[in-house]
Amino acid sequence: MSHQHTRLAVVGYGYWGAKHARVLSSVPGVDLVVVDNDPERRAEAQRGCPNADITGNLAEVLDFVDGVVVATPPRTHGDIAHRALRLGKPVLVEKPLATSTSVARSLIDTAAEHGARLMVGHTFEYNAAVWKLREVINSGELGRVLYIDTARLNLGIYQNDVDVIWDLAPHDLSIISFLMGERPVSVAAWAHRSLGARHADVAYLRLQLERSLVPAFVHVSWLNPQKVRRVTVVGDRKMAVYDDLLDEDRIRIYDIGVDSNDPGEPVDTPAMPVTYRTGDIVSPHVVLREPLWVQDTHFLDCVRTGARPLTPGASGLDVVRVLSASDVARKSGREVPVHDEHGVVDGRQVTFAHTKFTGTPS
Ligand SMILES: NC(=O)c1ccc[n+]([C@@H]2O[C@H](COP(=O)([O-])OP(=O)(O)OC[C@H]3O[C@@H](n4cnc5c(N)ncnc54)[C@H](O)[C@@H]3O)[C@@H](O)[C@H]2O)c1
Repeated sequence: MSHQHTRLAVVGYGYWGAKHARVLSSVPGVDLVVVDNDPERRAEAQRGCPNADITGNLAEVLDFVDGVVVATPPRTHGDIAHRALRLGKPVLVEKPLATSTSVARSLIDTAAEHGARLMVGHTFEYNAAVWKLREVINSGELGRVLYIDTARLNLGIYQNDVDVIWDLAPHDLSIISFLMGERPVSVAAWAHRSLGARHADVAYLRLQLERSLVPAFVHVSWLNPQKVRRVTVVGDRKMAVYDDLLDEDRIRIYDIGVDSNDPGEPVDTPAMPVTYRTGDIVSPHVVLREPLWVQDTHFLDCVRTGARPLTPGASGLDVVRVLSASDVARKSGREVPVHDEHGVVDGRQVTFAHTKFTGTPS
């Protein structure tokens, strides 16, 4: 990457925007502008990024920047990103891309109309441990994938504008699609609102993947005593566990499994229904770089060269589709196809046949 001079705005200097600002201000040739409408957050930005310009007025900087990172609460993503895209500015929007499929889709359309690059912050797709896990799956070492299980739990930060599914599951949805190279075709969802909280804080999703029909189970929680960040891939030969909280051995491949005994045996046979296999546990070497740094420098590269992002707006829409379908699945108590479009009209959740969708509800 050449060290040409590039001016980037980070909009939103909260928990995550401060990390973008730290990463980007460490990259040679980047001039940073921080935009936040909260004066206390601007004062914090002044302390954290003394070399950055700080403002509360997005309009005053948009004309002068080469690219924009949107790290504000999810419901504000659409408006801020649209304003930048309409000026032809490349935009990196934090996950989830938007809080409805219609807004996600219109961001993609606006980017195309104005020739601007749109990228979504699916950070785990820039994580070397996730790359390694995909390599292990693709090598066939695990055999046929039987199912995937993910858990993203802790005493988390309760969000005002989205529930725990929209807050945490985007990570797991993007990881699952990245690992398997396919999207979910249907989703079932269960969620619980504890403590009178505004939004559900504990949830489970069951997805079915499009081609392989592999099931994937996603557990997310803001109300759990233990921090867990785990992806388990169970194959018919071996099993792999990716634990993002470990400094070493983030990926472990277990040479263990279970073979089903002849299903034709009469049920009163004394034989065990399965036979267990046990072997070594191996941890492949992973050279880790901070995923946010990898992601943000990739965005910078896209800004400088016009390259297509590895996680374009379409990836963001894919995830938003699953999240929207999970809203319908929770409320209806049934499994819902992901490729239908879901939205809210007059306060009611509605489903449109994909081909008839005209894209107005938000
Ligand atoms: N990729 C990841 O691993 C990851 C991790 C955490 C959060 N996130 C995402 O980052 C985004 C921000 O999350 P957070 O936890 O930092 O939230 P936060 O509430 O801590 O920070 C949001 C900031 O945006 C500011 N803001 C709100 N509306 C604004 C507007 N219209 N213009 C300018 N500033 C505005 C607020 O004052 C606040 O400082 C969310 O989309 C979240 O899902 C991503």
